[in-house]
Amino acid sequence: MKTFLLLLHVALPLIGIADASYLAYEELQGIVPPCGSGFSCGEVLSSPYAHIGPVPLYALGLLFYLTLFILGVATILELDIKGFVPKKLQSFATLPQLFTTLATLGGLFSLYLVFIMAFVIKGWCLYCLISAATSMTLFFVSWKYFSMTQKKPHLLLKTISHTIFNFLYTQLLKPVLFLFDPETIHTAFTKAGYILGQNSLTRSLTNWIFSYNSPTTAVTFNGISFPNKIGLCAGFDYNGEMARILGPVGFGFHTIGTVTAQPYQGNPKPRLGRLPDSKALIVNKGLKSLGAKTIIAKLSGIHFSVPVGISIASTNTHFDSDHEQVMDVIKSFVLFEKSQVHHSYYELNISCPNTFGGEPFTTPNRLEQLLSVIDTLELSKPLYIKMPIDQSEKETLALLRVSAAHTVQGVIFGNLTKDKNNPAVTDADRKIWKQRKGNLSGQPTFERSNNLIKLTKKNFKNRFTIVGCGGIFDTKTAQTKLDAGADLLQLITGMIYNGPQTIGTINRELDSKSA
Ligand SMILES: Cc1cc2nc3c(=O)[nH]c(=O)nc-3n(C[C@H](O)[C@H](O)[C@H](O)COP(=O)(O)O)c2cc1C
Repeated sequence: MKTFLLLLHVALPLIGIADASYLAYEELQGIVPPCGSGFSCGEVLSSPYAHIGPVPLYALGLLFYLTLFILGVATILELDIKGFVPKKLQSFATLPQLFTTLATLGGLFSLYLVFIMAFVIKGWCLYCLISAATSMTLFFVSWKYFSMTQKKPHLLLKTISHTIFNFLYTQLLKPVLFLFDPETIHTAFTKAGYILGQNSLTRSLTNWIFSYNSPTTAVTFNGISFPNKIGLCAGFDYNGEMARILGPVGFGFHTIGTVTAQPYQGNPKPRLGRLPDSKALIVNKGLKSLGAKTIIAKLSGIHFSVPVGISIASTNTHFDSDHEQVMDVIKSFVLFEKSQVHHSYYELNISCPNTFGGEPFTTPNRLEQLLSVIDTLELSKPLYIKMPIDQSEKETLALLRVSAAHTVQGVIFGNLTKDKNNPAVTDADRKIWKQRKGNLSGQPTFERSNNLIKLTKKNFKNRFTIVGCGGIFDTKTAQTKLDAGADLLQLITGMIYNGPQTIGTINRELDSKSA
């Protein structure tokens, strides 16, 4: 099969060369090539679409097929072209990558020409159709061969698609999106994500444009295989509506929720705000949730493409006693344990700062009380705790010691910051923040989270899987968290400010660094 595909890398360009040469010959002789009945070669070839500026399309076709022919021969002979390529570009400019890139561009251009013939000129040229069929076949053949022979994704095309999408998002889409209320935009994205996730074609297309996974980005922790280290934090997909599209967007895992046992409509609006100068969001959602039972009904039986976690917290309401509040958390765990949801881990959110009664389980005594009951459930999935980031090192160590004495496999640093003196917030943004309810995500959480990751690694070595979360916007900030000791990473705000291609970009850049 591989040999056959390789031979086609040379044979198909030869067909294209013959086709384009014949058209060139006839044109230079001033003759309209003979066409069967039902075709209108003359009309198509004399149309303005037969040239790009002064260059006739047959000349471009000839150049295209000749280049592919040379690349095809070089691939068969396994020629080493590294010597001709600058060092910086060597990982992009491999023969299979160059061949598939050209074949992809050629295939797309052919589709455009077929569209022009069908709907604009409304006439067919036989030789143009032969060329279109040849280049489309080359597109499929080159991709089949690429997927059979290459372990890593197509670095050149991924870089091109990430760069284009980065431009589209940051220069065109974001300026428009940021004119509207953030919660309205979030709701629109949730709906779009739900629709895109329902269809295997849109999932594949999303995956093709955005995601980057390779054998070297994959990691395993607590028996869970993650295709890459970058996950989506709790808080973006509250009710699991986007669960089928987040893998194709490029995440190596994602957390649904936070889910609470009882439904809650969220704190009064406005619940979300943007502080672009501080690269932060003001969040005052207050654990908005449809409730565990409804979310379980939505997610039951769905097979996710990457590991999915369920974030659980106590419902944002008043409780008559500590015990009642513990049992509210336990209820969600029990419901998910008995459910048909194919999740891989739990996050216990003890650190939501926007709730009715504060953060009830962030003292050692209350955490001890809660974890003792959770232990009795003998959960079937690993448990990670979502930690607060505004506590002192001493207080954090006390919570970690309690966690280490129970069946807790991981810790996530961390949640939103409520520290109004946070140095990463600009003075102007601090004024805005002081007038609003809510706490900050993004850059203001970065340093604090890094310090607590280091503290945990230093004091607990490999006792916990450490998930670094807070202020990851790009490869540099992701690398800083990994260097601090994080095993896995999570983000939300970075995606909102920089676009959904950010995840694939970070994975691609981390991967090429490690190569
Ligand atoms: C809109 C929004 C909603 C959030 N809701 C939750 C939540 O329900 N549960 C939770 O554990 N964290 C929640 N968070 C906190 C994030 O999970 C994360 O800890 C924090 O935003 C820092 O990461 P980032 O800088 O990448 O956004 C929320 C964050 C944002 C921006």
